[in-house]
Amino acid sequence: MPAVDVQEKNILKICVLGAAGGIGQSLSLLLKSNAGSLLPRDTSTHIRLSLYDVNKDAIVGTTADLSHIDTPITTTAHYPGDDTGGIGQCLSDANLVIIPAGVPRKPGMSRDDLIHVNASILKSLGADIAKYCDLSTVHVLVISNPINSLVPLLASTLVKHDEKGNSRIESRVYGITHLDLVRSSTFVQQLNGFKSNIPPVIPVIGGHSGDTIIPVFSRLQKSPEYANSLDNGMRLKMVHRVQYGGDEIVKAKNGNGSATLSMAYAGFKIASKFIDLLVGNVDTIDDIVMYVSLTDRNNEEIAPGSNILRSDYINNLQYFALPLTISKNGIEEVHYEIMEDLDSYERDTLLPICLQTLKGNIDVGMNLV
Ligand code: NAI
Repeated sequence: MPAVDVQEKNILKICVLGAAGGIGQSLSLLLKSNAGSLLPRDTSTHIRLSLYDVNKDAIVGTTADLSHIDTPITTTAHYPGDDTGGIGQCLSDANLVIIPAGVPRKPGMSRDDLIHVNASILKSLGADIAKYCDLSTVHVLVISNPINSLVPLLASTLVKHDEKGNSRIESRVYGITHLDLVRSSTFVQQLNGFKSNIPPVIPVIGGHSGDTIIPVFSRLQKSPEYANSLDNGMRLKMVHRVQYGGDEIVKAKNGNGSATLSMAYAGFKIASKFIDLLVGNVDTIDDIVMYVSLTDRNNEEIAPGSNILRSDYINNLQYFALPLTISKNGIEEVHYEIMEDLDSYERDTLLPICLQTLKGNIDVGMNLV
């Protein structure tokens, strides 16, 4: 089907790569049904959803299906070698690229077991993004696992292909770890019997795999509704449940993949903050936790100005999930302050284990570039 011509409008182009998969389809549905409501009423902006997958029949069918939803968002399908230009047409002029392409886990697998297949997919998509997108403006959100290794791999691939050399693309590549925050909040509410209608906000820092995940449950002490909801024994169980929550879904699906619906929900929450930013509803996204590069290609701080030193807490690791402030230009502030608020269990027990594992995960990604 030809792309609909939207005249006299600014186009906000959102690409989903791997859009015919479990996460891709659900996320595209959420974007198609809800993203329009984020536009200001008098806007001259039109949202175009550009959907790509290597599975031709699935992406053509998914896009046709979505196109019958009565929201004023246009959808286009792209696949390798198609007559509408394949991935080049999909990515050109993109403002936001979201990547759930890749294989998911089966029972008994860890996220790291996915590395070889998904690294080659991400490397190839990275080369395409560098070729067809404007690296000095595009924002790239990574969902594919293992996030801990693939974000370093993708950011380095984009830097490698950055011909002009000054795009600062490394400050606009983000690993979506938000499902860990969603799970932390959900599990505490389950424990509390959903007594409060205000969900707790629990930052989750570090990485996105097993013991690299650090749910900052000490933050609950600041919230009157949830201050005493976890005693020490329950806290240990909750930390473990958040770290290995993905396994519950892999086991329940019994060979049919990993989290898709809850991941699409988490992905849409993050994507909608970027839509707010890109259509001008806000100047910055504040206090969003994502897994990012903390230094640029010259090994300078990605957001200079923090009075807390990265090396004081995270051993000069280059990638870490932390609360961020993001503008259209990319990461503006990294909120290292959260490291000062950790309690002794988080700082002395969870953090050292995270740092050790995460270092290995980052090296794996960098070595595959
Ligand atoms: P899926 O297998 O249902 O979908 C993956 C899609 O990617 C398929 O449609 C496939 O055709 C497509 N694909 C494969 N190679 C491609 C390429 N080179 N270009 C474009 N598309 C390509 O898998 P699912 O369940 O959607 O998971 C996707 C990824 O997300 C997995 O790596 C999974 O581990 C990860 N994931 C991440 C989470 C997170 O919290 N960040 C949570 C859950 C899953």
